[in-house]
Amino acid sequence: MNKQKAIQRINELRQKIEKHDRLYYVEAAPEISDQEYDQLFRELQELEEQYPDLIDTDSPTRKVGGEPLTEFVSRPHSVVMQSLDNTYNHAELRDFDRRVRQGLGIDKPVYTVEPKIDGVSVSVRYENGRMTLALTRGNGVEGDDITVNVRTIKGLPLRLRESGTPPSVFEARGEIFIPKEDFFRLNTGRRERGENVFANARNAAAGSLKLLDPNLVSQRPLRVLFYACGEVRGENVDTQWGLIQQLRAWGLPTPREVFRREGIEEALEAVEELAAKRTDYSYEIDGAVIKVDSFQERRVLGSTSRAPRWAIAYKYSAERAVTRVNSIVVQVGRTGTLTPVAELEPVSLAGSTVSRATLHNFSELKRKDIREGDQVEIEKAGDVIPAVLKVFPEKRQGNEKEVNIPMFCPCCESPTVRSENEVAVRCVNPACPAQVRERLIHFSSRGAMDIESIGEAMVDLLVNNDFVQSPVDLYFLKDEDWRKLKDFPGLGEKSTERMRQAIEKSKQNPPWRLLFGLGIRHVGSRAAQLLMEHFGDMEELAQADTATLQEIPEVGPAMAESIVEFFRNPANHDLLVRLKQAGLKLAEESERINVAADGTDSVFFNTTCVITGSLQSMTRDQAKDKLQSLGAKVTDSVSGKTDFLIVGENPGSKKAKAERMQVKVIEEDEFTRLLEEGNRPTDSDSDIENQQPQTSASGENNDDSQLELF
Ligand code: IVH
Repeated sequence: MNKQKAIQRINELRQKIEKHDRLYYVEAAPEISDQEYDQLFRELQELEEQYPDLIDTDSPTRKVGGEPLTEFVSRPHSVVMQSLDNTYNHAELRDFDRRVRQGLGIDKPVYTVEPKIDGVSVSVRYENGRMTLALTRGNGVEGDDITVNVRTIKGLPLRLRESGTPPSVFEARGEIFIPKEDFFRLNTGRRERGENVFANARNAAAGSLKLLDPNLVSQRPLRVLFYACGEVRGENVDTQWGLIQQLRAWGLPTPREVFRREGIEEALEAVEELAAKRTDYSYEIDGAVIKVDSFQERRVLGSTSRAPRWAIAYKYSAERAVTRVNSIVVQVGRTGTLTPVAELEPVSLAGSTVSRATLHNFSELKRKDIREGDQVEIEKAGDVIPAVLKVFPEKRQGNEKEVNIPMFCPCCESPTVRSENEVAVRCVNPACPAQVRERLIHFSSRGAMDIESIGEAMVDLLVNNDFVQSPVDLYFLKDEDWRKLKDFPGLGEKSTERMRQAIEKSKQNPPWRLLFGLGIRHVGSRAAQLLMEHFGDMEELAQADTATLQEIPEVGPAMAESIVEFFRNPANHDLLVRLKQAGLKLAEESERINVAADGTDSVFFNTTCVITGSLQSMTRDQAKDKLQSLGAKVTDSVSGKTDFLIVGENPGSKKAKAERMQVKVIEEDEFTRLLEEGNRPTDSDSDIENQQPQTSASGENNDDSQLELF
């Protein structure tokens, strides 16, 4: 292609990609598949490689990348970034309305009502339509320059969509956040890798923006929505309503719903409508913001020293509460990490009674200076364990007690260890009973060996009565032990038999489940799968050195070190020997691969599937295993690459998305039928029994695998 043609094609491709980015991220209405998008993107990348002088800093290919920073530089805001006054009740909203009416001398001001997004505020400057600067709010007068990080945010256009001449200056102000589902996934991954989890989505967003390497930031699921403006030159915006329309016209993402209402009574209805819908939102909203619509009226009302008189935030209060820390206890996790936990005066929060909250780690405890006896504000965000947000030192009576970093494990009293580059304080005694308990819970959990009927209570019984000291002991319980177990109150013949069968069945699990179940630090379920795919045999993995391990792209130094350390320990080596003796699978079996090959006859062969909702005839993990064994790839979210969405009960938003994207939706009945069909063509029927949907025996599933804390 000659240069002239290349210039033309590059422009065309950039415009197309920008358009599809907007359709996907801003309007949630994609028109092309991911493959088609990738093709456009690759073509552009190739042309830019061929003609490096045509590379433009605003090209969609330049969103990711950039050199790491050494620090953030502070820069002034051209227009001060104010905060908002808050209220928690309708009476104060009416007071606000009275002040507005008096200030303007009108009866029914026009208000807009918008969701209050719980994120990190940002000001993004466009000059002649090009994104040039992004600042955090900072102290309102100046903020940190986070331009390189903000550029990586999906759905944030680097150029305003063309609609006439772009304004010479336009500062869009809004909120950066992480959607709830993405946050949950981010934290699950971190927990699995033994990293610290974020207390809530806002902290995760703030923490991500503080990373100095934009490449890392680009991997965080950040999003942005705009709802205000700073400096504007070359464009007339005179109402909030008009602003939102203008932002949308330029391709800037805005909140999904903005209401325009006459008078406070109508505005209050909109506030309540938003409150009722808040859980349907894909991101956290912590209230509603009421704003005077007309910018002219805003100028008349003016501001106080900290906030405008023309807007107010109404905060939904149920998700936060103030209570007292009765004591601070220390919990020992399965990898020995000590976590301080606040025992609280029970308080009602988001529909349930909360009596414990995580304090995350000792650095956080010291930083927030939380003491026994303190009054604290706690928060429950989405599915997350309640966390202590802040402490009220002014409410102290003088008898509050500081808690020190434990020098000894509260359970086994062995000395604790704190490595230099980690915040975690750990007990390194592998025989520590608390760790043994947590390890067993993890081992039998759904994501790992999936031993139904061994939940927390059963683990306590088994450990406290010396039946097992290590997961492998489960496979060496003798007839005499089973007889004794049967006599424990609440157990009996049936449930012990069920447990025995569940343990027996777990021997057939693929080795990655066993590897994940061993609870090696940093080795989550995905890593376990990759490791087993690579090594095939756990005994070979046990021999690998850190360099060999790091040849696998997703294995970093921390994971490699932790694997080597684990297998270097003679006790863990013995564990492998005993697991093998017990008949567990330590190596991928060739039949398994045959099953996959046989799967070529299955409709699922070579497809990408997503599972959503709760299945009745099997767990989601079992469904995933089956699909994988038939040669399907199972992913978490519906995209252009998805071939089938398998839906159980209460499927949520994925079903709607799949329907919108014309992805084939398969209900459970059809799914189980297709699974059976997929197995039928095999000559040998030896595996069929294993492939049948297994009915949950007891309903006593240990869903607690996620909650290392409680
Ligand atoms: S308007 C001068 N609108 O809440 C007023 N703020 O608690 C500018 N926020 O600093 C803010 N959603 O970071 C506005 N729809 C919304 C908002 C919103 C979230 C944040 C913003 C602000 C904070 C005040």
